[in-house]
Amino acid sequence: MSAKIAIIGGTGLKSFPGLKIIKQEVMRTPYGTPSGPISHGEYADCEVIFIPRHGSAHTIPPHMINYRANLWALREKNIKSIVAVAAVGSIHADIYPTRLVIPKQIIDYTYDRPHTFFEQDLQQVKHIDFSRPYDETLRQHLLAASINMDLDCYDGGCYAATQGPRLETTAEIDRLERDGCDIVGMTGMPEAALARELEMAYAHCAMSVNWAAGRSQEEITMELITQCTQIATKKVQALISGLLQVS
Ligand code: HPA
Repeated sequence: MSAKIAIIGGTGLKSFPGLKIIKQEVMRTPYGTPSGPISHGEYADCEVIFIPRHGSAHTIPPHMINYRANLWALREKNIKSIVAVAAVGSIHADIYPTRLVIPKQIIDYTYDRPHTFFEQDLQQVKHIDFSRPYDETLRQHLLAASINMDLDCYDGGCYAATQGPRLETTAEIDRLERDGCDIVGMTGMPEAALARELEMAYAHCAMSVNWAAGRSQEEITMELITQCTQIATKKVQALISGLLQVS
């Protein structure tokens, strides 16, 4: 086995072709139970762990996810690198729905989510460096895989993490754009920061599944989101296969 990598599956991605599942494990952590059983699999000589962020039946909304339990479970399994798949809405005009994005920055607009492991019994308060929220080496591996797999992937951009579960108003998206955000999703934080606290490399593989509020004439319907998710998920599966082949 060469690499040990974890994939946090978002909307649409519950598994991917070619992954041989060896076992499923129900875990408990000091922070509670992860979103679902952890799948242990093999792909192209890599050891892969897969966790469904919204639960196996996709029933956990973004603000109710136990991010700490999910990340703690991955750390317990000795994971060094995490690819976090996330559905997003597009703010930037170049990021058409179904396009993949490997973002570079995050702005956190979420609230009331347990967002740190540094809470009690501390010898010293620790402030992680989060100036570059994503691991650059992992980002570059994802971008190289996108070229190898002939996928049109947007390199960079800023991910706005919103509270959800509702979508945004047009005025909110206008504000996010003024803030410099290019895509908007509901699960990017505190996940990325918790991974950094536990010293695991983390990168987002975002897939656009709709134009954000006010960025198209069309109403944002679940039907439209589902259609784009199905197309984009195939691209994500190809991207991850490409990544594992070079890991
Ligand atoms: N906003 C927030 N989160 C999302 C969106 C959106 O438009 N699309 C998919 N996740």
